[in-house]
Amino acid sequence: MDRNSHLEDVDPDIYALIRKEAERQEEGLELIASENFTSRAVLEAAGSVLTNKYAEGYPGRRYYGGCQFVDQVEQLAIDRVKKIFAAEHANVQAHSGAQANMAAYLAVLKPGETLMGLKLTHGGHLTHGAAPNFSGQLFRSVQYEVDPATGRVDLNRVREMARKERPKLIIAGGSAYPRIIDFAGFAEIARDGGAVFLVDMAHFAGLVAGGVHPSPVPHAEIVTSTTHKTLRGPRGGFILCREAHAKAVDKQIFPGIQGGPLEHMIAAKAVGFGEVLQPAFKTYAVQVVRNAKAMGEALLARGYTLVSGGTDTHLLLVDLRNKNLTGKAAEEALQRADITVNKNTIPGDPQSPFVTSGIRIGTPALTTRGMGESEMGQIASMIDSVLSSPDDSTIARVAGQVRDLTAAFPLYPKTTAGSPARRP
Ligand SMILES: Cc1ncc(COP(=O)(O)O)c(C=O)c1O
Repeated sequence: MDRNSHLEDVDPDIYALIRKEAERQEEGLELIASENFTSRAVLEAAGSVLTNKYAEGYPGRRYYGGCQFVDQVEQLAIDRVKKIFAAEHANVQAHSGAQANMAAYLAVLKPGETLMGLKLTHGGHLTHGAAPNFSGQLFRSVQYEVDPATGRVDLNRVREMARKERPKLIIAGGSAYPRIIDFAGFAEIARDGGAVFLVDMAHFAGLVAGGVHPSPVPHAEIVTSTTHKTLRGPRGGFILCREAHAKAVDKQIFPGIQGGPLEHMIAAKAVGFGEVLQPAFKTYAVQVVRNAKAMGEALLARGYTLVSGGTDTHLLLVDLRNKNLTGKAAEEALQRADITVNKNTIPGDPQSPFVTSGIRIGTPALTTRGMGESEMGQIASMIDSVLSSPDDSTIARVAGQVRDLTAAFPLYPKTTAGSPARRP
């Protein structure tokens, strides 16, 4: 956003708050695993006049006139995401990851039928069958857990549960699961029980696109995702599927659960997908994983416990019990030093989800700023200083280090909320 913006004249209150948020992003260390910094080009498309257009339907089959340009925008988004993931069919209209999941489930399940997903407190997502979510309300939900000894999904237990519960849909993927999932193994379990296999790759989609994580597309009949996490696009969702499910998926997005598509966000998705298709994105994805491993090793060296012992991806789940800290206390102490993480349950957590025994740490956002393994080592040391003695003087000292480090890796040019200045 320009400092001489029209918004500043029209609505100084909102302008000032957006500027403050831009400064918070610029001056803090963002370690939330589901966040990233999108480019100026993506921001521009998201803020474009396409927000004015109604376009219920799909390219070439709309319920409104005047869609000749948004048709081309949406088709480009579809073509690009199909190319990135070698998918048979793509729907780019889901307003978010939750909407993508809802439409995908309704494409293959009737209310009351059984779905099976990873339990929320074991690293799954709310939409994978948690009781307060639509997925737990509309469907009969059964939930598998990770093995408490290894912190990993044990396919033998998944198979056992699938044989007993006979789910019609099996979901793999999660929000706080740091390891590569055996998609082929899940697909075989689903095939044996006559279930549809769906992968929610919202967290690791960018790693798949960058070639540093196996793709679920050859194994799953339906793959859902967000666009704003490791994929580094605007906030939104999409669904990939085999041709056999294409009609049902499209019908469940519209008219099933959504009205008019957000064509400005679809344009921003197309721009983000275009960036993912550039060779530089692969370099980025490689660095995201290297940084997560470096951060994990630096934390292990300081006596921290990592669920599953480490990571294959962009995120780490730190079990703080041996440090006599709750996730809530750790999150709050780190926030005082401008280091942002989120408290997170660990498998079998004795604390409530509001307190938790862990924190989740992710490297996608700081990697976008151009930080590498040596900065991850420095940040692990800052985190350890704060968590070891969260007193005012330590917090002030670390906050100073955070300011110096973020100043050395500027995010957006000072005059605009534009593209990250450095990209690996
Ligand atoms: C695995 C997974 N699926 C779905 C979602 C939901 O995405 P959204 O917040 O865009 O609805 C998330 C978000 O955290 C997620 O981690």
